[in-house]
Amino acid sequence: MAQNIFLKPFYFIRHYRFKTTVIDGKSIANKILKDLKVAVQEHTDKKHRAPTLTAIIVGDDPSSKIYVKNKVKTAHFVGIKTEVLNFPDSISETKLIKTIQVLNSTKEVDSVLLQLPLPSHINPNIYELISPEKDVDGFTSANFGKFCLDKETIIPCTVLAVQKILQEINIDFTGKNALICGRSKHVGLPIAMLLHSNFKNAVKGFNANTIICHRFTPVDQLTKFCQNADVVITATGVPSLIRGYMVKKGSVIIDVGISRIIDPQSLKNKIVGDVNFEEVKEVAGFLTPVPGGVGPLTVAMLLQNTFTIARKRNP
Ligand SMILES: NC(=O)c1ccc[n+]([C@@H]2O[C@H](COP(=O)([O-])OP(=O)(O)OC[C@H]3O[C@@H](n4cnc5c(N)ncnc54)[C@H](O)[C@@H]3O)[C@@H](O)[C@H]2O)c1
Repeated sequence: MAQNIFLKPFYFIRHYRFKTTVIDGKSIANKILKDLKVAVQEHTDKKHRAPTLTAIIVGDDPSSKIYVKNKVKTAHFVGIKTEVLNFPDSISETKLIKTIQVLNSTKEVDSVLLQLPLPSHINPNIYELISPEKDVDGFTSANFGKFCLDKETIIPCTVLAVQKILQEINIDFTGKNALICGRSKHVGLPIAMLLHSNFKNAVKGFNANTIICHRFTPVDQLTKFCQNADVVITATGVPSLIRGYMVKKGSVIIDVGISRIIDPQSLKNKIVGDVNFEEVKEVAGFLTPVPGGVGPLTVAMLLQNTFTIARKRNP
């Protein structure tokens, strides 16, 4: 009993000395969107047509539909015109290829978004057929290759969202330890490029000592890397992957993950990230929530990319 009395204050100090700043991604995104709306208005005032974004959805994935609906709604707010092409799961690859080719050659289409995931009978590399100049997600080899070589190009939206959050926090990560959980070609890998690099052109790299973990990383290794990391960026879709005991005091934790779970208390659907928010907010210095963290910024960056492309196409 006596031991508990002495341990309690230390527990308090360890867990409450850092007042965690929860980063409000929505309000950062709103500021970007307001500025973008003004810029789009100025563009159209000069008699240019409104920028356009065409989204292709294949199948009935409810998350994809919600994401695209959200992108469309936000695009309308900033003055970007949208078109959504909904195809059934059964669409043939040939028809999808034809659709992309038509969009590539349509003058009024500025940018093309192919919402992932795609059904298994469609080659996932089909997005390579999107014209690089209209590839708003920056996923084609042409754009991704330029990104990796620090050349001006279209940068994936999650990379821009993470960059924006780190710029807001304004900590110099040069020589500091970064951990990226997830190595997908569209999310984890490009974010790792951002963190480790000394890029200076289309994005600014963070010069961090960067470790990438993935599904084959043993949990004890993940824990060790995490405990040593000054910044953790996680994009796995594994709820509660990052627990409070794994996090270094005062570190920066950015949660890109999005998962739908059934809340054990309310038994209702709930959106969560990869981070156990309640535990980690007692230890981290900065933390992004899910929802309301990286997600709204990713949408804002998608629309910023759309406008950049439109301006290039209609200078
Ligand atoms: N917030 C946003 O705007 C945004 C944008 C895109 C994707 N996402 C979300 O980010 C997450 C990742 O997306 P994705 O497209 O890269 O998914 P993905 O399934 O392609 O990749 C998941 C990655 O996580 C890794 N992984 C799986 N289990 C792991 C574990 N136990 N430990 C460490 N790594 C593990 C895998 O190796 C893989 O590299 C998803 O939840 C997705 O919904 C969010």
